[in-house]
Amino acid sequence: MMKEINIALLGFGTVGSGTAEALNRNRELIESQLGCQVNLKTVLVRHPEKYAQLDILKGVRVTSDYQEILSDSSIQIVIEVMGGIHPAKEYIYAALQRGISVVSANKDLVALYGPEIIQIALTHHVNFSCEASVGGGIPILQPLHDSLAGNRVDKIIGIVNGTTNYILTNMTDNGASYEDALKEAQAKGFAEADPTNDVCGYDAARKLAILTSIGFRANVTFDDVLVEGIEKIQQEDVTYARDMGYVIKLLAVALREGDGVALNVYPAFVPKSHPLASVKGAYNAIYVVGNVVDDVMFYGQGAGSLPTASAVMGDVISTIKHISNGSAGTGMIMTDIQRIPFYSSLKLKDSYYFRLIVDDVTGVLASIARIFADNDISINEVVQKRRFEKFAELMLIVDTSPRENILRVEDALKNLPTVKSIANIIRVMNDDKK
Ligand code: NAP
Ligand code: HSE
Repeated sequence: MMKEINIALLGFGTVGSGTAEALNRNRELIESQLGCQVNLKTVLVRHPEKYAQLDILKGVRVTSDYQEILSDSSIQIVIEVMGGIHPAKEYIYAALQRGISVVSANKDLVALYGPEIIQIALTHHVNFSCEASVGGGIPILQPLHDSLAGNRVDKIIGIVNGTTNYILTNMTDNGASYEDALKEAQAKGFAEADPTNDVCGYDAARKLAILTSIGFRANVTFDDVLVEGIEKIQQEDVTYARDMGYVIKLLAVALREGDGVALNVYPAFVPKSHPLASVKGAYNAIYVVGNVVDDVMFYGQGAGSLPTASAVMGDVISTIKHISNGSAGTGMIMTDIQRIPFYSSLKLKDSYYFRLIVDDVTGVLASIARIFADNDISINEVVQKRRFEKFAELMLIVDTSPRENILRVEDALKNLPTVKSIANIIRVMNDDKK
């Protein structure tokens, strides 16, 4: 008789319903690979009455009581797709401690507690996997851990937040204002009603912490990432970037510097020639540089019901294989990580774009150039527009300089009476793809 694996799903929203749909759609394919029957036995939600009539849940127990799942000894895998820290953390820990393997899409949780969760899974000889927590449907965590294991990874640059990429693409391709692009992202369901996590860069920072833990085998968390969001980007910046040969993207960047790592999320001018520049809309991409493979890029839908379910089901299938051959608790990500030093972001060297609104009077440009020179920063490109009656708008791109020098220039410019405002200062990625 064919063996059976029983699964419980915690959460039946976007990802949970997609997971049930993916299992139904590809049941034959999945079961024939595994040689066993895969049953969705129980679904946990807060409001079971909302889900009771769904066709896809016919024959599935829908409950709001987690104890029912924990005390069901036939359940071998729990899929956590509820989101948030509590009670997801407690539910996952309890499952692992009972010898139940867990698959999760929860980046908030993994970015803070990933290594701790893996330790619990190891102790109880069960699997914990979370491919869907970064890049939605893009296979990236397991490939970073396995396929690229023969490399010293030196750089990871991700466009890992679909909402901000959608907003910036809309501003670039359709001339939308930041406010209108954000409203449209909300209307299309990409951005949450409260878009803070996306537009302020926190979602990207969580994903960067997870990517770095695996790619750099470094024990880092969300709190280790310096974060800047896209809230200050205006249509003018997008237009000038385009005129200068760039597109603006929110980047999540992990860099090996010396014996440490620098972790930053920030908007940046990306040269149009760079592969990341062509990642549009809600798509995600993760660009990785290894010392053997050189550069590789992983690309696909970073969110959404079925794309994310694809990653969840991949984890489920590989967990079933581990359970079947008695190797549960092996081959997991984040098992070999250690604390490594952080490289000071003040020392990080980058090229920068400045947009300044200044008095349109003789000598202003000279006084600004003096400030850059005094701080050992070389100006690469200058554009001036007379968009206003009494003011000029100045755009400058400066050569690669340490962040601490850039901050000193910012302070000095603020104290210059002829500078009315510093509209923006944005990093510029250099043309060298590495
Ligand atoms: P969602 O649509 O808001 O669905 C959440 C589900 O979880 C609902 O069915 C809700 O039930 C249930 N739930 C929430 N809190 C619960 C609790 N305390 N007890 C029991 N059930 C609870 O969320 P989602 O978009 O599917 O996201 C789920 C997870 O996947 C999150 O960690 C998210 O970060 C991650 N993720 C999402 C995407 C995406 O495209 N959406 C992509 C990658 C990763 P009720 O309706 O009864 O409240
Ligand atoms: N809010 C996230 C995004 C969802 O926009 O990418 C996927 O994690």
